[in-house]
Amino acid sequence: MKPDKLNAVTHTHYWGYENKKYFSKSYLNKIRYFLKYVINKLFLNNLGYQIVQKFSNYRKEQRSYLKNSEILSLRNIQISDYLFQFGLGFGIEFKKTKLLNSIERYEEIFRNSKIRDLNGGFGFNNGLFFYVLISHFQPKKILESGVWRGYSTFLIDEATPIESKILSFDINLDKREFISKKASYFESDLSLVSDVNFSKVDFALFDDHVSIYDRLKFCLKNEIEIVVVDDDLSVSQVHSDPWPPIPTASMIYNYEKIPKKFNWICNGMLANADIGGIAVNDIREHYKYIPFPQLAEFTGYQDTSFTSFLLKR
Ligand SMILES: C[S@@+](CC[C@H](N)C(=O)[O-])C[C@H]1O[C@@H](n2cnc3c(N)ncnc32)[C@H](O)[C@@H]1O
Repeated sequence: MKPDKLNAVTHTHYWGYENKKYFSKSYLNKIRYFLKYVINKLFLNNLGYQIVQKFSNYRKEQRSYLKNSEILSLRNIQISDYLFQFGLGFGIEFKKTKLLNSIERYEEIFRNSKIRDLNGGFGFNNGLFFYVLISHFQPKKILESGVWRGYSTFLIDEATPIESKILSFDINLDKREFISKKASYFESDLSLVSDVNFSKVDFALFDDHVSIYDRLKFCLKNEIEIVVVDDDLSVSQVHSDPWPPIPTASMIYNYEKIPKKFNWICNGMLANADIGGIAVNDIREHYKYIPFPQLAEFTGYQDTSFTSFLLKR
């Protein structure tokens, strides 16, 4: 055992880093850590500040992951068994072999994704179930609202048959790092276009931080069978997202139980909402509401957002 006071860790003989970038014994690193420690301790901490170690800003899922194939395959079997049961609970019969294949494939495509930085988009867990859903339902015409760097487009592209078409909307398409050959892109809100044919859209993803209630009314009108909504916050989670898509599906499906006027503080700013007088019955009668399963216990990654899906009854 070897205590390392500067880094506040104790080394044991059971494991160790091969590439000791952050725990290097080099004199330069030792001096750097020592200076940081002294400056923090003597000056900055008293003022409420501190110098922190600069790690990459990329998502944890991109920086830290399993390498051992035996553990990965055990984990994938556990996720597969869990999702199979989860599906049955909502009347979805995943095919066991295909389900496991999709989970294994997801790990592969996640690691090989060309998108450098997944911040601001789906994380590992929600992306995984999203990929499983699309692989299962095999939609032909997909509507996506909220493209950002293109991670969700990438998953749709990977999971759908070659002939599938994607209608991808974002009010700012400049951030795209992945562009799908299956997609037609529109730099607009979907309600502001007049020349797009939404008939026969069989799957929609809304990850645009715009009212989920308005989006679901649109889906009802266009008879869209399967709808995924990201950032589906409940009234008690609403402060956790700087731009919540209110009224969310959670609010629609709990409408009688929640206050219609509420407020919260987000990053020091006061926000007020009034969702009184909205007609929720049509949506609830036509769609079954299913929050995404929680996969953190299997993957070791925290869910990055609250995602749900709705299936036509
Ligand atoms: C959370 S990001 C989307 C992440 C993406 N789905 C992913 O998983 O990588 C939200 C995106 O919604 C877009 N957005 C904002 N208002 C919108 C609107 N009215 N219609 C479509 N997209 C919108 C933003 O420009 C931003 O790119």
